[in-house]
Amino acid sequence: MPEQFPKRVTVETLRRMKQCGERVVFLTAYDYPTATFAERAGVDMLLIGDSAAMTMLGLPSTLGITLEEMLTLSRAVSRAAKRAFVVGDMPFLSYQPSDEIAIRSAGAFLVAGCHAVKCEGGRRIAPRVRAMTDAGIAVMGHVGLTPQSLTQLGGYRVQGKTRAAAERVLEDARAIEEAGAFAVLLEAVPPEAGALVREGLSVPVYGIGAGPHVDGQLVISHDILGNFVGTVAPKFASRYANIDAEVERAFRAFATDVRAGVFPRPEHWYDTTGWE
Ligand code: KIV
Repeated sequence: MPEQFPKRVTVETLRRMKQCGERVVFLTAYDYPTATFAERAGVDMLLIGDSAAMTMLGLPSTLGITLEEMLTLSRAVSRAAKRAFVVGDMPFLSYQPSDEIAIRSAGAFLVAGCHAVKCEGGRRIAPRVRAMTDAGIAVMGHVGLTPQSLTQLGGYRVQGKTRAAAERVLEDARAIEEAGAFAVLLEAVPPEAGALVREGLSVPVYGIGAGPHVDGQLVISHDILGNFVGTVAPKFASRYANIDAEVERAFRAFATDVRAGVFPRPEHWYDTTGWE
């Protein structure tokens, strides 16, 4: 945790961190233990991502997770977050249909303990962002690769690969900023596009696979811990642990002990004081 920012992170802290050139550390968390460990590690911001559909529920894309499921995870993460700023990710169809649905869904995230919400899309979603910010809700935009539009984008494809394409991403980001968003998340673009968008906005721009020239880095915790079960392997995520192998090793050792009759051992038994 940066020494000059020890207290609860707020939108104002994030603004000051940008001014000071202090990079924000941003991780996904979907449960109480992970959020607790991230909090202890001094992570600045936690996202309850709709990536939970894939990381936690084993679904093939982010589309299948419901608002109720996201709210349950948000309550658990918010309970653990004492300093970190908590962002709830609005799932598919929780904001697209109308301004009213967007405000109600975003409000439910706040009631669940989140400090802000995130929604995907640029110009076409700007009216929803405006409706939510007008209702007093802090909104983070999400442009570049937007997984809820995966079919339209033709898969997990890098966005903004040419100057013209990067300028379209910038226009999307600007529309979201003008609609009142306090920050923008930029996903899967080359570093040049990351720099272009950051230079073109005054609010903080965070990146996930957007190179180094942004105000902070988000990763999906499963990607750096090594416990994602599936075939999506983003180029930008570096592994810091091999939780999969460690959990599997522990389960195999337990199974071996049970099958051999060496678990439980006497130290695991309750005593029989008072047994007739
Ligand atoms: O759901 C999520 O974790 C996200 C990130 C991939 C940006 O939205």
